[in-house]
Amino acid sequence: MEKQTVVVMDFGAQYNQLIARRVRECNIYCALLPYNTPISKIRALRPRAIIMTGGPSSVSRNGSPKCDPMIFDLGIPILGICYGMQLMGYMLGGRVGQTKRREYGHADLIVDRKEKFFSGLKRKEKVWMSHGDQVLKLPKGFVRLAHTKNSKIASMCDFEKKFYGVQFHPEVAHTPKGMNIFRNFLYKVVGLKPTWTMKSFIKESIRDIRCQVGKEKVVLGLSGGVDSSVAAVLLHRAIGRKLHCIFVDNGLLRKDEKEQVVDRFKRHLHVNLHVADAKKDFLEELEGAVDPEKKRKIIGRKFIRVFEREAKKLGRVNFLGQGTLYPDVIESVSAKGGPSATIKTHHNVGALPKKMHFKLIEPLRDLFKDEVRRLGKELGLDDKLVYRQPFPGPGLAVRIIGGITKQRLYILREADAIVQEEMEKYDGYRGIWQSFAVLLPVKTVGVMGDERTYENVVAIRIVTSLDAMTADWAKIPYDILGRISNRIINEVKGVNRVVYDISSKPPSTIEWE
Ligand code: XMP
Repeated sequence: MEKQTVVVMDFGAQYNQLIARRVRECNIYCALLPYNTPISKIRALRPRAIIMTGGPSSVSRNGSPKCDPMIFDLGIPILGICYGMQLMGYMLGGRVGQTKRREYGHADLIVDRKEKFFSGLKRKEKVWMSHGDQVLKLPKGFVRLAHTKNSKIASMCDFEKKFYGVQFHPEVAHTPKGMNIFRNFLYKVVGLKPTWTMKSFIKESIRDIRCQVGKEKVVLGLSGGVDSSVAAVLLHRAIGRKLHCIFVDNGLLRKDEKEQVVDRFKRHLHVNLHVADAKKDFLEELEGAVDPEKKRKIIGRKFIRVFEREAKKLGRVNFLGQGTLYPDVIESVSAKGGPSATIKTHHNVGALPKKMHFKLIEPLRDLFKDEVRRLGKELGLDDKLVYRQPFPGPGLAVRIIGGITKQRLYILREADAIVQEEMEKYDGYRGIWQSFAVLLPVKTVGVMGDERTYENVVAIRIVTSLDAMTADWAKIPYDILGRISNRIINEVKGVNRVVYDISSKPPSTIEWE
């Protein structure tokens, strides 16, 4: 069966990835492309529909982002959202201009014509608006479908061509019936079927991986995190023992982390797992290093060397598996309008040198993070792993401020394990982005029993975030913070004071380094 693809054209609004995710929540595959993607590239994907996103610009402004006009001749349905609707109006001969006042926030949408597009909605529905321009005069062939108090044309349509526009944002949670609109457009207007599911994804991926790999071997750096773990399980399903996972124990891991990885992958899943015990090597190289960047460089270099050494033992290997995700490969358009084409490399295991001559195999490169978690569950991975918090590649080294020693690693590991244990019992745990302990290079005075102590300070960092670009310190109930503090001071020898970090990002960062 041919994959039904929807193309989402990115005009630079902040929440454009959300549109792509909404389409996928309708179980339809979609690709997010920059607005100026050449028509030949779009045609090659054979899309069944196009969605044009919002953006911060004004269509009539010189140099504002415009798509190839041939898009309107492809003969497929198009949905324009906010800037996308204005652009459609402008390029097809309507008139677009500024509203008297910028419309921002909730608005009551009055549906004038339900048709298929608004079916299931009431005559009046709450929607979310954020715009300065609007379509003032419909292009030829269009009719109005809805209005609000401030937008005479809040939705428009050319029934014959199946071109639709909405001035509001159906993709955000503030538009409660937004998903209905996406479903109506995709299923009823375009006629797509919800066939893109995790089950179908697994089936297709396995077929593709087998076809790509043939009789060769694949090596994969397993970090124990969600992405590399899910990639490993998927590859293992496809090629079994031809997959070789390398887990580097750099001595900077959390408590029992290595044991958990071995247990999960080797004992339960019977994956070919090679554990490289490099604790001593890393610690020796880190001796005396205090500067955070220097520590990172040492760890990065060492990782490559250990990985290379381990991979060589496997003989001839053609492929390197990686858990690269879709947000890392999207050529994103910056909110300022220009296609910034920031293609990031996967910063943990992606740093492996080109001279290793591996061909890359990246089975998750089409997926968003939440889809990877769903895939992990579908593949039978446990919730503890699937909902694991991010953990930086350089591990505890970025959470020990100053020099790294065996003793300091021990203190941090024990304190951190208590934070994890207590946080996992907290109802709101799933809403937390990261929670961990940091060991500071200061000693302070305390008193224990009748004795004066002079010991280390541990800071607790607990944040909420959507994407780690910004973060807020979490308002954790005092009793939980109290328990964490008590337990660390009582159970971890060498700590007599615990503090809670109440800084947000920016201006702080999540890690202390
Ligand atoms: P900062 O400290 O810059 O961190 O606010 C943002 C997010 O990135 C994680 N982080 C890393 N993740 N390799 C990773 O995979 C790294 O080297 C690395 N450094 C920081 C950090 O934990 C946070 O989630």
